[in-house]
Amino acid sequence: MDSLVTQFEEARRQALESLRQAEDRQAVENVRIHYLGRKGVVPNLFREMGKVSPEERPLVGKTANQTKNEIQAAVDEAFNRLAEKEEPDAGVDVTMPARRHPLGTKHPISQVMDDAVDIFRRMGFIVADGPDLETEYHNFDALNTPADHPSRDVQDTFYLPDGRLLRTQTSPVQIRVMEQQPPPVRIVCPGRCFRRDTPDATHSMNFHQIEGLYVDRQVSLADLKAALTMFAHELLGEDVKVRFRPHFFPFTEPSLEYDFSCIMCGGRGCRVCKNSGWLEISGAGMVDPAVFQAVGYDSEEWSGYAFGMGVERIAMIRYAVSDIRLLYENDLRFLKQF
Ligand code: PHE
Repeated sequence: MDSLVTQFEEARRQALESLRQAEDRQAVENVRIHYLGRKGVVPNLFREMGKVSPEERPLVGKTANQTKNEIQAAVDEAFNRLAEKEEPDAGVDVTMPARRHPLGTKHPISQVMDDAVDIFRRMGFIVADGPDLETEYHNFDALNTPADHPSRDVQDTFYLPDGRLLRTQTSPVQIRVMEQQPPPVRIVCPGRCFRRDTPDATHSMNFHQIEGLYVDRQVSLADLKAALTMFAHELLGEDVKVRFRPHFFPFTEPSLEYDFSCIMCGGRGCRVCKNSGWLEISGAGMVDPAVFQAVGYDSEEWSGYAFGMGVERIAMIRYAVSDIRLLYENDLRFLKQF
């Protein structure tokens, strides 16, 4: 039965030769049908194998399988070669728009906080942190806020059954930092605050502040005004003016509120600034000696200023957002714009 082995080898030789000469895919297909098709040369030879003696069967079987596999591989290869020649880039439409992977963007509140922190860092402040769940002591008592102060009312503050509360301001971080280190101090603390406000266009039950505290020898109100003015210029541009108004906070003396001139109308008056030309940012002042006493600082030797700023308000000014609730609804059509 040498001849069957020879026949397989001859079939392979001829098939490979034909494939080499094939000039299009139809020719390849014809070769495939001739040699591998159901009634083709190779299957016919397979049928002959029944007559082979058991001793010879292994060699013939091996040759048969090799022949079939090699022809099949050569057919595939020829198909690919000709497909590329006949239709360059077949299957790859280079004009098709690529699939985009949607990229998230930083929330406007985070953008303002990151940029603000960056500006204060360059002014020598370092970032401090404190818990959202505070003690009454840190949020009120140590900040010289008397027990009957209206802000302590359950109407304004979220209390937990254990007496703790959701901090209503970032000012307790001042206390935590001063409790832990001797002066001098120069920190900013961006963070979340909570108040029992009824939500409307300018109020939200949770919002963000950036607290600042600077304690050193001979710190003055002029330093505070310079720092806040410089901050406004860095964040919103040189044209922004800063206005300070007398105010009251239990933990600063003197206390003031400060406004930035409206960048929407350049201070002429518009809808955003309710025609006043100014936008209220938050409070500030010189640290009250009673606060220094609470943390064991000598108020004869050290003085300092503190400020808070409403992050949402700055974001609303910066991005001309007319309703604070937009910042919390997570509507992608809104958020994608920043
Ligand atoms: N904590 C005050 C508020 O929430 C702002 C403030 C901070 C005032 C620091 C003075 C000093 O309104």
